[in-house]
Parts: sequence; C-alpha cells; structure tokens
Amino acid sequence: MFDAQLVQKLTALETPFYYYDEALLAKTLAIVSRHQSEKVHVHYAVKANSNPRILTQISNSGLGADCVSGNEVLAAINAGFSAQKVVFAGVGKADWEIKAALENDIYCFNCESVQELEVINEIAAGMGKQANIALRLNPSVNANTHHYITTGLEENKFGIALYDLEAVLEKLQVLKNLKFKGIHFHIGSQITDLQPFKELCVKINDLQKWLDEKRMLPEDVNVGGGLGVDYFNPDSASIADFESYFSIFNSFLTLYPNQKLHFELGRAIVAPCGSLISKVLYVKPGRAVNFLILDAGMTELIRPALYQAFHKIEHISGQVSQAELEKYDVVGPICESSDCFGKSVLLPHSKRGDLFAIRTAGAYGEVMSSGYNLRGPVKTVFSSNI
Ligand code: LLP
Repeated sequence: MFDAQLVQKLTALETPFYYYDEALLAKTLAIVSRHQSEKVHVHYAVKANSNPRILTQISNSGLGADCVSGNEVLAAINAGFSAQKVVFAGVGKADWEIKAALENDIYCFNCESVQELEVINEIAAGMGKQANIALRLNPSVNANTHHYITTGLEENKFGIALYDLEAVLEKLQVLKNLKFKGIHFHIGSQITDLQPFKELCVKINDLQKWLDEKRMLPEDVNVGGGLGVDYFNPDSASIADFESYFSIFNSFLTLYPNQKLHFELGRAIVAPCGSLISKVLYVKPGRAVNFLILDAGMTELIRPALYQAFHKIEHISGQVSQAELEKYDVVGPICESSDCFGKSVLLPHSKRGDLFAIRTAGAYGEVMSSGYNLRGPVKTVFSSNI
C-alpha cells in the first residue's frame, strides 16, 4: 500500500495522523453493497469510525447507519444517511437522545430493558409519535473473542435475557406508542471463526418458531455486526471475507415470508482503510531490546494498550535495507507503561525521523483517541487530498 511516491508525500506532513485510503474503502463498500437487496439491509456501525468524510463516503454507497448515541444519530443524518435507514442502539439512551431520534423519525430503536421501553413510549406519546422497536436479545452465544468485546453472553450488560422475553412482549402490547418491529442480536466483535454466527442462526431459528406459535413474528431480524478482519496481513487480506460471512446467514437462517434481515457491520468495513502514521522521535537503548519512541501513542490508538490488540507495525521509510532486522519495543510518548504498540517487534534498523505505519487502524482508532496528557486532536489525511 505504501509505495515510494506515497511515502514521500506522507513524509512531508506533520505526524502523527490517520491516513485513510478512500479507494480501498470504495472497493470494500462496492462488495458490501452487492449483498444488499429488498430483503437485506446493511447498517454501518458509526461507532467504528465517525469521521465526517468516512461517513459521507459510506452513506453515498447506500448503506444505513447503526448508532449508539444521540450525537451519532445526528452525525449520520448530517452525513447524508437516510433517517429511515438509521437504527439506534445502546443500553443507556438519555431522554434528549430519544427525543432527537424521534424528531428525526429514525427507523428503529434497538431496546435493551423494560424501563427503556416505558421511557421511549412516554416520550413518543408526548410527541404524538409511534416508535419502531427491536428487542435486543441476549442469545448466550460465545463469540470466542476478547472478553472486553464479547457481548452475547448472559453475564454481559447487553440485551434482554431470552427467559424474560415473554413478559417483555406482554408489556409491549400495552405500550401504545411503540410498535414491535424486530428482534436484534449482537454477539461480539472481531469474530474471525465464523462458527459462532452459525450458532446464532440456529438460536434465532428456534426463537422464531416460538414467536410464530405465539403469532408474534416481527418484520425484522437484526443480527448485529462482529465480522473480524485480518490484522496480521493488511495487504494480502485487505478486504474482509464478506462472502463467507453473508453466506452463513443465507444458508443457516430461516426467514419467514416478508421478513427482512439487517446487519450492523463496523470494523470489517473501515478497519483496513486506515493506518496511523507516525515518526520516530528517539531510539533509546534498553537492556534486552531498544525502544523505538514514536510520536503517536495510546492517545491516538488505544487498542494495543486496552485490549492487547495486535496491529502490524511497518517501517515505511524506504531508505533502509529490510535484510538487517532488529528487535524493538515500539512505544509512544504518553506517561503510561501500557503506552506500547508492540514488544520485541522485528523491524529494519531505525533512526530518528523514520516513518512508520500502524496498520488496520481505521476502526476504533480515531474514534477512541483521547486528549490525555493534553494531547491535541488527532489529525487525518485522505488519499484523494495528497
Ligand atoms: N452492533 C452492536 C450492537 C455493537 O455493539 C457493535 C460493536 C457493532 C454492531 C459493530 O460491531 P463490529 O462489526 O465493528 O464488530 N472498541 C472495540 C470494539 C467494540 C465493539 C462494540 N460494539 C475494539 O476496538 O475492538
């Protein structure tokens, strides 16, 4: 991805910054869009990357949006997503967020508790509106991913337990400003072994049989997001395996006539197109290996510090020989020991000023950046601008 010409242009810019490859995003979106139809709707999970230019490019491709805050709902609509394709999830929606979503006539609220249903009903009644509701259910499927990003287990705070569903459905009957529109699931993120999605389909099929018997089948089945990306091979696997992912649902999920299938993909759409570009500030000798101190840190990309996540660290200044590799601990400038992108990483001999790309950082990178240590807001550079 980083050829000599691009590296030369990037070297001239002030680091650190996120570099977004819009051509790769366009290619990814073209593939995802092919899977959309009258019956299949993909909502982009805005939380993965809410940069306005990224949002605009995604909305132009015709996808819907999956939002988890009032500000995400507003950002999605501002970026051109049709409100009728916006779903709004989250365990703790504040009253103003519910109001803002209702004012904008979004498609559906993904709800997580009885109290939340009561509050949405009351606010909708006050505005003379009816809100579409999908119930987020906890299917108890183990996604085999990092425990911080698994969500479909009973011990997680998300969703309504299946054993509470009957009572919740009864409650919904009396809440006159709500319409039961769908069932919603999300089992976790960065799922690369697709087996858990198959298990999810089997659980949904059982549940739908039960709903059918009760004559309570909803119009929508929303299976959330979670498709993982290959952090180890950013160039050879720059597009996630959407074909296998969508075909699992196609093969194993039984939809009833007139039902629609919804997806909420975030990471798989935007992770590969973003890299964090940073320069070496200092090379400091360590006891076992040398430290490479970059000008980017956990304030720009917190995933390695927070989840011990792997991101490929690439030396992209062309002038050194790849043949002589050395081990480095690659760290940032923040006053925390966890501010480390990788330990004992084999890299070409590096010196002050060399340029690095921390790859596959387009999802949960820029959005999770912080001002800790009074760092300034992280900068962005788009491929079409340089
Ligand atoms: N739908 C719901 C209800 C979600 O909670 C999420 C992500 C998604 C969709 C999108 O999932 P994706 O397709 O991106 O896997 N910050 C963490 C990831 C947190 C994911 C939270 N939920 C990370 O950096 O790995």
